[in-house]
Amino acid sequence: MIKKINTKTIKLIKFYNFINYNFIYNNNAINRYKKDNFEISEDKAKNLDLLKKSIISLKNCDLKRLAKNIVFSDGNPKSKIMLVGEAPGANEDQEGLPFVGRAGQLLDKMLSAIDLDRKKVYISNIINYRPPENRRPTEDEIKRYLPFILRHIEIIKPKILVLLGSTAMNALIGKEIVISKMRGKWIEKQFGTCKTSVIITFHPSFLMRQPAQKKMAWIDLKMIRDKKTKLKI
Ligand code: URA
Repeated sequence: MIKKINTKTIKLIKFYNFINYNFIYNNNAINRYKKDNFEISEDKAKNLDLLKKSIISLKNCDLKRLAKNIVFSDGNPKSKIMLVGEAPGANEDQEGLPFVGRAGQLLDKMLSAIDLDRKKVYISNIINYRPPENRRPTEDEIKRYLPFILRHIEIIKPKILVLLGSTAMNALIGKEIVISKMRGKWIEKQFGTCKTSVIITFHPSFLMRQPAQKKMAWIDLKMIRDKKTKLKI
């Protein structure tokens, strides 16, 4: 009898090991950010996961229905520099990552001009699903997604927040302002529990259409570089 129980127990232990019982049945959130030296606190990882899940479970959203993938973020969630764009395009929708198309290539060049890259910054958008035909998101869509990007900023807690283009600026700073007047200035702003220095600059897609404005964007980039040094980031 004893021998029979032992064999049974051993089999059970082997089975639990096989199915990786602790991994499947414990209640701890999986920290998906451990890769690439992006290790963040369990709390931050859990909050990012919860935020992503709440976006995924949005009901009755046409953007979500028509999109292939959610575009949540890219880069280093530990970074003190966060960039916010408008909404994913076709390439981003395909890959599930922000700024991977032509605008993304220009953004990478802009970042590298001030010694930054995707491992040193964190990137997201106002809207997490591609608007069809790459149209601008509507006021209603922006209103719907605003709580998510606000929470996203609160979780990441950047010291520098870079808003790329007027959609991000109007959604997060104010509707009655124009980018030509607002870019290239530091604005101290509180988003929930996150106090941050905000700078608005031109969206890379706009710069591709209006290359003459790149000189203004360069001024903004240098301001970001100087702020980064000042804040010892
Ligand atoms: N434009 C954006 O605003 N965001 C992206 O992710 C890609 C292009």
